[in-house]
Amino acid sequence: MSGTDKSTQNDGAFFTLTDERDGQQYRLPLLSGTLGAPAIDIRNFYNTSGVLTYDPGFTSTAACSSAITYIDGDQGILLYRGYPIQDLAIHSDYMEVCYLLLYGELPSPEEKATFERDIKLHTMLHDQLMLFFRGFTRNAHPMAIMVGVVGALSAFYHDSTDIKDPEQRMLAAYRIIAKMPTIGAYTYRYSLGRPFVYPKNDFSYAENLLYMTFSVPTEEYVPNPVLVKALDRILILHADHEQNASTSTVRLAGSSGANPFACIAAGIASLWGPAHGGANEAVLKMLTEIGDKSRIPEYIKRAKDKNDPFRLMGFGHRVYKHYDPRAQIMRETCHEVLAELGIKDDPLLDLAMELERIALQDDYFIERKLYPNVDFYTGIIMRAMGFPTNMFTVLFAIGRTVGWVAHWKEMIADPKIKIGRPRQLYVGHPQREYIPLEKRQQTEIRGWSRLWGGGNKNGK
Ligand code: CMC
Repeated sequence: MSGTDKSTQNDGAFFTLTDERDGQQYRLPLLSGTLGAPAIDIRNFYNTSGVLTYDPGFTSTAACSSAITYIDGDQGILLYRGYPIQDLAIHSDYMEVCYLLLYGELPSPEEKATFERDIKLHTMLHDQLMLFFRGFTRNAHPMAIMVGVVGALSAFYHDSTDIKDPEQRMLAAYRIIAKMPTIGAYTYRYSLGRPFVYPKNDFSYAENLLYMTFSVPTEEYVPNPVLVKALDRILILHADHEQNASTSTVRLAGSSGANPFACIAAGIASLWGPAHGGANEAVLKMLTEIGDKSRIPEYIKRAKDKNDPFRLMGFGHRVYKHYDPRAQIMRETCHEVLAELGIKDDPLLDLAMELERIALQDDYFIERKLYPNVDFYTGIIMRAMGFPTNMFTVLFAIGRTVGWVAHWKEMIADPKIKIGRPRQLYVGHPQREYIPLEKRQQTEIRGWSRLWGGGNKNGK
């Protein structure tokens, strides 16, 4: 089934809205997808009624139809192309999941082998691109380097930027998926001043990522299979999550016909924020700051205080009002990795589990249905593997790249593609007359905090 076949159809159901000002009724088609809530088709609503719909943060808006990923937030269900995330995390591997997300079906053994080989053909970076790393200071955040270097890819590869050509789209997609681990690993090596290590194509995707990150050219590198499996699983769990902020950013950027590599750079920028992919880094910082179980109540109290901007990082989700299924898998993987590494007691894991236990018994978190999300446990695993905290979101970005690409591919292939262009409810000044500088008076002293917007937990 292609991306938009079913959901743009109306099965004969309608939703009627009444304008209470004049009693005018609007009969709007109700669109139903395969699973989940139906959607009111408001595409012609403004033209017929002169009224806009208002939904900042898109809490009730389906910005597109998609056949890639389904989330049931109340039940804690996550499906990639119909397959439960638990089955994929246990039985599949990242390359297979990439194929599934891009093409809609699990590959045959031959298709999988061809796909893996085709991706591996693109793992190296152009020599000129390597120079971009050197433009950054050694202490630059790896995500800052990633945004820059991935954006710079748009200046290379002119043979894969005609987005109207499906073959060029495929080439761009394979290139970006293949190069992300290389770029991610190099951001780390650059920060340490270590020489860049070329990818080795007899390694798997996850093996290569570990190899390019941690090996030294003078020593043989033998990847630890338990860590490889755990990293592969992290990549699978992060591979897609329907219309999250970064994926929506990629779609919006791509809707104008922009260069595909630039669109992915935009997605990386959006992912970096602590409310999104940056949360894994923020969780580790928070746990380190709490430091001891005895201080948990103090932080829970702060998380509940409306006048304190502090939030419990790794908790809550826009869609999940139930335990995030990815967090459950990460929690189990965490124990496996620590056992493999011989870490019997990890104080941060103990602290995280106690924090989770206390928060899940607290009325504030119960009433708001705030559960641990995927980021709550991933940082502990990544840290145990040897990744520094500032690399956590880079790993998220590497895993999520295929999701961004799959959504971009789905959108571009849709013949009905329209540039994304939201409207607004204007609340500024009505038209007014320009006053020359010499005639203007200082009306009040305004502090920087008021001018730039102070902020409590909800940004108010
Ligand atoms: N700690 C304390 N209070 C919270 C938290 C939290 N982590 N999350 C939500 N709330 C409260 C919030 O203050 C609000 O309370 P009230 O109804 O009294 O005003 C209520 O719960 C609803 O929150 P919201 O901000 O309206 O919910 P949202 O859907 O806009 O935000 C979220 C979702 C993930 C941004 C938010 O839960 C959050 O900031 N969590 C911490 C950051 C985090 O872990 N992000 C990773 C998300 S999962 C991975 C990913 O998508 O990248």
